[in-house]
Amino acid sequence: MAIFGAPALVAFAVACAGLIWLRSRSSSKEMRDIPGTMGWPVIGETFSFISAFSNPAGILSFMRDRQKRFGKVFKTYVLGRITVFMTGREAAKILLSGKDGVVSLNLFYTGKQVLGPTSLLTTNGEEHKKLRRLIGEPLSIDALKKHFDFINELAVQTLDTWPGRKVLVLEEASSVIANMLVSLEPEGEEQEKFRANFKVISSSFASLPLKVPGTAFHRGLKARNRMYAMLDSVISRRRDGGEVRSDFLQTLLRKHAGDEADKLTDSQLKDNILTLLVAGHDTTTAGLTWLVKFLGENPDVMEKLRDEHLEIKERLKDVGNMPYTNKVMNETLRRATILPWFSRKAAQDFSIDGHGWTGYDVKKGTSVNLDVVSIHHDPAVFADPERFHPDRFDVTWSMADDIFALLQETLKPYSFLGFGSGPRMCPGMNLARLEICIFVHHLLCRYRWKPLEDDDSVQPTLVRMPKNKYPIIATEL
Ligand code: HEM
Repeated sequence: MAIFGAPALVAFAVACAGLIWLRSRSSSKEMRDIPGTMGWPVIGETFSFISAFSNPAGILSFMRDRQKRFGKVFKTYVLGRITVFMTGREAAKILLSGKDGVVSLNLFYTGKQVLGPTSLLTTNGEEHKKLRRLIGEPLSIDALKKHFDFINELAVQTLDTWPGRKVLVLEEASSVIANMLVSLEPEGEEQEKFRANFKVISSSFASLPLKVPGTAFHRGLKARNRMYAMLDSVISRRRDGGEVRSDFLQTLLRKHAGDEADKLTDSQLKDNILTLLVAGHDTTTAGLTWLVKFLGENPDVMEKLRDEHLEIKERLKDVGNMPYTNKVMNETLRRATILPWFSRKAAQDFSIDGHGWTGYDVKKGTSVNLDVVSIHHDPAVFADPERFHPDRFDVTWSMADDIFALLQETLKPYSFLGFGSGPRMCPGMNLARLEICIFVHHLLCRYRWKPLEDDDSVQPTLVRMPKNKYPIIATEL
């Protein structure tokens, strides 16, 4: 703001948006066969899209309305770009299976800049595959076992403070991920600086792409530089052998110290520590909060779940073997659909079935988006989709099994996408499941709770979470 005043900044932003819109209109002509409406000049249908976000039903109403008019594939202009939305399991297969490199991930320019060029989320093809392999290993079920006590202790400590006061579940369910990735002292200056930088980085993601002092994007990039400087000094301390911890960073440093082919460079390490933090923090916190909310609204489910946890109390390390808990988690991810759509970019021209037998040609470079919320509310797969009914996921499951292979047998393929599918499927899902399971265990074994507000609004952010952070009051059992 020091260089440009606010009015100049706004004028500049409007001019940029206008130019982008004009450019988009020409590519819209190339896809004139795909039905849909581009809405108002410059803003397109962004306002209706964003206002649908805060509905309890989220973008489902936006999608349903357009699917009724245009079919399973339609185009629109939202959030500064021409966007094709697709729904249905056939579209999911094309967009998620990674077959023939039809699509690549589609991040906003701001997200790409903040996460860096070697992040899992900004790489494709072989480079992405290699990163997945290296980063995925410390997130496997076996590797996570050594973090059990840490996660457990943190859940107990957090829940100790709950009785007799107003608790905002979304704030308190803050995930343990930062400490697992790079252990910092739980309190103190380093921890506070890290958290503060992370907050600024998170809020710069969906900002305007203006790299000018005073803008959210500029602040995000600065915070990223500060966070990377902290990581640089931690990495060099570890490399000198002056500091040894049992966290994720240590595993990666140790594992890749020798073998050149399998070694992560320092920038790959930093980009991906930040990526895991960004991708794992809000999603896990939101998942836990929705679960607590759905349990509060469904007392029968809560009692059945409590029975499972009381039964296992003395052998908590068996958390992997809790069939009903896993069904409740799946149903939570289905009903809440924390990431309501997955965004991709067409890496080549391809065609897809649209309305009836009509095939649509999608041009290379188009933003193609899978509408997951409609897939999760398809009554042909999930009868009475608004009902919270964990037993619909009735499969025998343990943490050691491949849940998705089993679910695909019982449910139709690509009908449950809580953690995605294919080469970009969530690498943090075992960690998320473990964290949620341990937290819910202590919550159910110790407390009853009731909500303090009756408000179903949702935050207008990419990750869906209750707007009021779900305030409750808890009492000992
Ligand atoms: C309840 C919690 C979580 C949910 C619901 C969730 C959901 C998802 C989904 C749906 C995707 C695929 C998106 C797409 O295909 O476009 C994804 C990808 C991803 N998730 Fe998660 N996630 C959760 C927790 C975590 C955690 C704890 C971490 C980190 C430790 C994490 C890291 C990632 C990363 C890095 C990707 C991108 C993978 C790639 O592009 O190869 N997630 N997540």
